[in-house]
Amino acid sequence: MRVLLTGGAGYIGTHTALVLLERGHEVVVLDDFSNSSAEAVRRVEQLTDHAIPLIEADLADRYETRAALEGVEFDSVIHFAGLKAVGESVAQPTRYYRVNIDSTLVLLDLMQERGVDKLVFSSSATVYGDPDIVPVNEQAPAGIGVTNPYGWTKFMNEQIIRDAQTAWPELGAVLLRYFNPVGAHPSGKIGEDPLGIPNNLMPFIAQVAVGKREKLAVFGDSYPTPDGTGVRDYIHVMDLAEGHVAALERIAAGVKTYNLGSGVGSSVLDAVRAFEAASGRPVPYEVVPPRAGDVAELVADPALANRELEWQTTRSLAEACTDSWAWQSANPDGYGE
Ligand code: UFG
Repeated sequence: MRVLLTGGAGYIGTHTALVLLERGHEVVVLDDFSNSSAEAVRRVEQLTDHAIPLIEADLADRYETRAALEGVEFDSVIHFAGLKAVGESVAQPTRYYRVNIDSTLVLLDLMQERGVDKLVFSSSATVYGDPDIVPVNEQAPAGIGVTNPYGWTKFMNEQIIRDAQTAWPELGAVLLRYFNPVGAHPSGKIGEDPLGIPNNLMPFIAQVAVGKREKLAVFGDSYPTPDGTGVRDYIHVMDLAEGHVAALERIAAGVKTYNLGSGVGSSVLDAVRAFEAASGRPVPYEVVPPRAGDVAELVADPALANRELEWQTTRSLAEACTDSWAWQSANPDGYGE
């Protein structure tokens, strides 16, 4: 296939581009570089020895995107583009709704104009809010207890895609609900390069281990979990990338929704210990009060994806920490732009 990756210069997009190219697909990257770097795409080109056409455009801008894609061929789309910082979305709700919703609306219209009828969408486990039953499967109610505009944009985009498919029955769409992506390509050449102070646990830990930050703040240690800290399902970004390829290769008219997770829960302190072991560096931490909106435990039931996509995770949290350390220690300032 020839796949357009919106937001393809970002963390998950670059790893997915690499796996697609290695499986013999072609990719075209569209990105506005608001939270990503062209250098990341250059590194995927080096790792795969394939050229990647790179289109700079703001997907939320219909006219700019239509013009930028003129003459560019593709037969399917993986839609990664979007703003993704939970706290920022609470402070800037209209920006989050505008960027994340408009970009999906523009994309769907352009796909229909051009007769491109295969779409994989980056959704999030955040749509489950604080589920009653963990591990959570795709039948669990979504949209109840979503606590921030970022999460609402994921929920709303899922609904927009379902409605678009009802009106356009040839469209095949897969909604992938990611759990917590971590790790990096084992080469250490590409990885997660957060802007400013990392919001997420793993990049924060990596920056403490490399000496860029003094210590980790552990957000609460009295949750009803084995060690009192929050439990999440950390999925290696290479497993996640393979999940996208599996979804794309099996896409058919209609809408399918899958959890992409490992099914294994790890606590904040498990993650600290795993990173210390992988890096050989201490990760000092201090327990502070819980972060608003956090849930105690969110772990995937990945059985549906395992069965229907014939996909499962094969990499452990320890491996993710090793790969993340390879990236962080070789690139302490990320892509450096
Ligand atoms: N945590 C800390 N200290 C930190 C950062 C995080 O203790 O500095 C804890 C959190 O409280 C939580 C765990 O580490 O228990 C994981 O936190 P992350 O911020 O890494 O991830 P979240 O599970 O909060 O959120 C992630 C993504 C969202 C997505 C959500 C879906 O960031 O985009 O998963 O559940 F919506």
